[in-house]
Amino acid sequence: MSELHSDALVFFGATGDLAYKKIFPSLQGMVKRGHLNVPVIGVAKSGWNLEQLKARVRDSLEKHGGVDSAAFEKLCGLLRYVDGDYQDPATFEALRKELGGAERPAHYLAIPPLLFEAVVEQLTKSGCSKNGRVIIEKPFGHHLESARQLNQILLSSFAEDNIFRIDHYLGKRPVNNLMVFRFANTFVESFWNRNYIESVQITMAEDFGVQGRGGFYDKTGAIRDVIQNHLFQVLSNLAMESPARLDSESIRDEKVKVLKAIRTLTEKDLVRGQFRGYRNETGVAKDSQMETFAAVKLEINSWRWRGVPFYIRAGKNLPVTCTEIVGRFRKPPTLISAESLKENHLRLRLNPDVTIAMGMMVMTSGEDVAAEETEMVASRYPQAGAIDAYERVLGSAMEGDVTMFAREDYVEEAWRIVDGVLKAGTPIYEYEPKTWGPIEAERLKPAGGWSNPSIEEAEVAAAA
Ligand code: BG6
Repeated sequence: MSELHSDALVFFGATGDLAYKKIFPSLQGMVKRGHLNVPVIGVAKSGWNLEQLKARVRDSLEKHGGVDSAAFEKLCGLLRYVDGDYQDPATFEALRKELGGAERPAHYLAIPPLLFEAVVEQLTKSGCSKNGRVIIEKPFGHHLESARQLNQILLSSFAEDNIFRIDHYLGKRPVNNLMVFRFANTFVESFWNRNYIESVQITMAEDFGVQGRGGFYDKTGAIRDVIQNHLFQVLSNLAMESPARLDSESIRDEKVKVLKAIRTLTEKDLVRGQFRGYRNETGVAKDSQMETFAAVKLEINSWRWRGVPFYIRAGKNLPVTCTEIVGRFRKPPTLISAESLKENHLRLRLNPDVTIAMGMMVMTSGEDVAAEETEMVASRYPQAGAIDAYERVLGSAMEGDVTMFAREDYVEEAWRIVDGVLKAGTPIYEYEPKTWGPIEAERLKPAGGWSNPSIEEAEVAAAA
């Protein structure tokens, strides 16, 4: 373990949903790979004891990925538990005691944003934040102003390079692969710009609803939940320039430049939808105006992209679960039968499988000089046992590597782009579950229409 490695992991929200679904399986994975060998202290206000927490961990693992007996036993040996109110100094005194001789703890705040301030304040007062790191879940703030306030609170106790703003998309290999595809292949640079590309669309479709998270979702909505963070990260990887060096700041500088070049969204750049039945979900207001679907059109005023519209669509309860990017090329000045001629495309699928496909025209098999579309496809399915995105980001934070985390200026630029439309109260259109969002989204569609990903059953099975 390097001297920069955190020597304890404290996680607030130990009895919560995120811990249950994502964190415990990641912790087991880290232990299994030998990446976690320090005390892991769960904190929550549930009136629990350590044995109950261990039982919860086992239950979580049984439902999410399976129990690995040896790693589970080892993880239990590292586990500690502190029960108490986040406002109460006694909770933090107890935490201080549990930390024992730890000098560089990492504090992971897997709790609702409303509680961040109180926890950071108590961490500081109790001395637990000294030489420590803080890991914060997205969405980081609720809008630009609250993000700025939150940054100030964190910066009053932690240095910027000890603040880790989680966006688990940064830990996804297929998302990072976008940079490898662009910057490790000579041919891509020749067309990936305004001279050849007519439009780019990013679709993040999920075929499920809010899965019991109605209370959270109804305060958040699709724009705050996935567009302002996950999909802007995808967009940055697609649109950025090659960094001057491979250190974390050089990479993050290039991503911020992409956001800086994006024009602030106006009401006409957005269509919001809500699936029928959403208002009956537990925790959702009966007259909710929150979007479960959003389509936005963005302009990147950079040298590379000026004049090329970028579209993002994200929604719950759509026909499939798939994240896919389609870049359409400008049509060639060809004399060949214009009727059947489709523009070439580059299709990059991030989930459930990783696909890179080039769509092109070839001559039909018949007698006519006509062309039809085909795709040249490279596909890979996720490997069993591959490192999960959460495991990767948590491991990185504990090592003190900030590359996979959003920097303060990046987060604020991302809010700047969406802040106005979030406050504008644009209309919300109903859509039927398992459809591609409200019909009104057609108003924004790219030339050539939306490209709706289709998933073959075989692909789903292979990716499972
Ligand atoms: C989370 C959102 O951050 O990302 C969820 O809160 C969404 O609403 C999830 O379903 C998608 O993540 P993944 O890794 O399943 O693509």
